[in-house]
Amino acid sequence: MKLFFASDHAGLNLRRVLMDHAVSLGHEIVDLGPDGTASVDYPDFGNKLADALATDPSAQGVAVCGTGIGISIALNRHSHIRAALVQDVTTATLTRLHNDANVIAFGDRVIGVETAKDALTAFLTTAFEGGRHQRRVEKLTPAN
Ligand code: RB5
Repeated sequence: MKLFFASDHAGLNLRRVLMDHAVSLGHEIVDLGPDGTASVDYPDFGNKLADALATDPSAQGVAVCGTGIGISIALNRHSHIRAALVQDVTTATLTRLHNDANVIAFGDRVIGVETAKDALTAFLTTAFEGGRHQRRVEKLTPAN
């Protein structure tokens, strides 16, 4: 799986941990930044991740900010994105099964590192269930 990673300054540390984890699981990663701890705006990096996924719909994204909320909002303004802010393995698994999420989002200031790594593993190893969930996911896409 090809994975695009993006964060803001508040998500830098967890993004780096999760990139290492993804590589250890055998995934191809593309790091969209930022490179350092200077303050940046989470919408810029959420939009950058959305643009990257538009060019490669078979890939998935990993997004991190302080709470995970701001970057999720930025991502979900794009019609091709289903970004799920997860707290644990259960939410990471269910958002793949039920929502066919293509981005997993984390709050660096609110989740433990080991929980985040386990949640990412679950997200990457769980397939969309389809069935009744297919109709619901289709209704998430705006008509215009
Ligand atoms: C940055 O201080 C912080 O506001 C941001 O990382 C995020 O938590 C916003 O939702």
